[in-house]
Amino acid sequence: MHGLAQELNRVGVASAYDRWAPIYDLVFGPVFKRGRRAAIDAAETVGGRILEVGVGTGISLPHYRAESRITGIDIADQMLDKARDRVRRLKLNHVERIAIGDAEALDFDDASFDVVVAQYVVSAVPHPDRALSEFLRVVRPGGMIVIATRLGAEAGMRARIERALMPITSRLGWRTDFPWSIYGDWAARNPQAELVERRPLPPLGHFSLVCFRRAAAAGQDNHPTPALGATA
Ligand SMILES: C[S@@+](CC[C@H](N)C(=O)[O-])C[C@H]1O[C@@H](n2cnc3c(N)ncnc32)[C@H](O)[C@@H]1O
Repeated sequence: MHGLAQELNRVGVASAYDRWAPIYDLVFGPVFKRGRRAAIDAAETVGGRILEVGVGTGISLPHYRAESRITGIDIADQMLDKARDRVRRLKLNHVERIAIGDAEALDFDDASFDVVVAQYVVSAVPHPDRALSEFLRVVRPGGMIVIATRLGAEAGMRARIERALMPITSRLGWRTDFPWSIYGDWAARNPQAELVERRPLPPLGHFSLVCFRRAAAAGQDNHPTPALGATA
C-alpha cells in the first residue's frame, strides 16, 4: 500500500499550482494537448452537464462543444483566475461556472452531472480513492467518469526511478509513482464503477485515458441529470 497522503498535502499542492499559473499554459499546454483532446472526445460521447475537476487555467474549455454545459472547479485560486479570464476573453457561453472546490469533497448533489472529467489531476490529490468516490457520487447512473492520468510503472527500473523522483515532483504538485492498482483497487471496492476504457496517451505512454461508467442500480434507469442543485 502506498503512503500516498503523506506525499502530498492539499495546501502544498494548491500553492504549487498557484506558482505554476503564470507559465502553466506555456509549459503544459502542448505536452498534454492530445491527451486533453482524447478526454474531451470521450466526455462528449455522453455530453450534457459536465464537471471538470482540476480545470486549472481552463485550457480545455474552448474545446468542448457549445451545447455542453461545463462547470469547472480547482483548488488553486491563481489557476482559476486564468480560467475566468479565458472564459471572458473567448466568450465561452457553454461554461456555466468556475469555482474553488476540492476533488475529495465535491460540493454538489448526488448524480448532478452526466460526465465528470479529471485531466492530469488524480495523481495530484492526497487521497485519490476519495476523489474517485466523489466523482462516482456526483455522476448520474449511466454517466461517465473520464480521467487523463499519469500511470507509473509497476516494477523494474522505471518504477524505481519514478519512486526516487517523488520527493522532487511532490513539491512541484504531482506524483511520478502512481500505479494502476490505485484505480484497479478502487474499482474493485466500487462495483458501480465499470471500467469501459483504458488506453495509453501521448507523450511516451506515461499517461493514460481511463473511463468508468456508473452502472445504474437495480431497477434504476439511466436517467439524465436533474437540474444542478448544489453550489460550489
Ligand atoms: C496538472 S494540472 C492539470 C490542469 C488541467 N486539467 C490541464 O489539463 O492542464 C492539475 C490541476 O489540478 C488541481 N488540483 C490539484 N489537487 C486538486 C484537488 N484536490 N481538487 C481540485 N483540483 C485540484 C491543481 O490546482 C491544478 O490546476
